[in-house]
Amino acid sequence: MHHPEDLEHVLLGLAGGVLHAVQRRAQGRPRLLALRLRLERLPDQLAAGGEVAEDDVLLGAEVAEDYRHQTTLITGASSGLGALFARRLAARGSHLVLVARRADRLESLAAELTRQHGVTVTPITMDLAQPGAGAKLAAVVAERDLDVTSLINNAGFGTHALFHEADPRRIIDEITLNVTSLTEISRAFIGRLRAHGGGVLVNVASIAGYQPSPTLAVYAATKAYVLSFTEALWSESRGTGLRVMALSPGATATEFFDVAGQGADGGTSRMSADTVVDLAIKALDRRNPPPSLITGARNRIMMGASRLAGRRITLAALGAMMRQTERR
Ligand SMILES: NC(=O)c1ccc[n+]([C@@H]2O[C@H](COP(=O)([O-])OP(=O)(O)OC[C@H]3O[C@@H](n4cnc5c(N)ncnc54)[C@H](OP(=O)(O)O)[C@@H]3O)[C@@H](O)[C@H]2O)c1
Repeated sequence: MHHPEDLEHVLLGLAGGVLHAVQRRAQGRPRLLALRLRLERLPDQLAAGGEVAEDDVLLGAEVAEDYRHQTTLITGASSGLGALFARRLAARGSHLVLVARRADRLESLAAELTRQHGVTVTPITMDLAQPGAGAKLAAVVAERDLDVTSLINNAGFGTHALFHEADPRRIIDEITLNVTSLTEISRAFIGRLRAHGGGVLVNVASIAGYQPSPTLAVYAATKAYVLSFTEALWSESRGTGLRVMALSPGATATEFFDVAGQGADGGTSRMSADTVVDLAIKALDRRNPPPSLITGARNRIMMGASRLAGRRITLAALGAMMRQTERR
């Protein structure tokens, strides 16, 4: 029986192999040399807890996004990453439109942020897992005459279960929320975002979007969609001034696991939500944010290694890892 740490050792071993190959070929090649320098620093960052590696991974000059006079719509703002995005952006001067189902949470956050930062915060209570929710949200925003210039599609949930045992209704809700509503909302607002030319569009994906995940089959597939979709928009938005980015965190300490099941982390350690959101906002302050930001050096190495290892080996390793946490 494999232990999650064994898997990590295998993946880190693979990463070491890549580093070795790059080291040998880097002589006299500036781009490879730069890659080599970045790879060489990763073990130190891992020793420091696997966090905060942004300066080594993000490219491009820093030109801080100006959120003042902007209105940012954040879905899933009643807890976790969404609530933290709201706090950070309010502190940077953005007006906010906060969407989720739990009205009490949205209202108290709205009151707190208005009091602290003097920004206008509009809570909208809506179930985005309902068909047509994206169009309904756009209609409510138009009705209230809110000029949305930045968008963070963050609402989402997962289900830790074997697919043949998962609740069919819940699967549909998961796809509707994570994929359909996210797409509808993006389509409804992107024209204005592009015309404004100075905001951000963040779609929260996951490292689960980088590889199939047994016991999270539907969730990982929805996040693969978010990743692919957002990276394409990143390219389509070049030259408009709109900063598009998929945010791909690994396991993060939020209410996500109360909903998905505690075992959905596959036994990996959970990063703090503050770290994830701070890394995302820092990345968005770059002139040219990455198409997808994987948070944490450890997660980046794992994803790089799984890409190298190929589907069959990755699935065998992930299957073993997730089986251990099936009952949590
Ligand atoms: N935590 C992780 O390990 C992790 C890792 C990678 C990616 N992510 C992604 O990060 C995003 C944020 O999740 P989180 O970790 O912050 O978890 P969370 O604390 O559970 O937050 C999820 C948010 O989505 C909202 N939401 C859920 N169902 C909704 C619905 N039907 N309609 C409207 N809003 C809904 C929730 O609000 P209400 O319940 O009030 O509606 C809540 O505000 C998700 O897309 C998740 O997939 C999380």
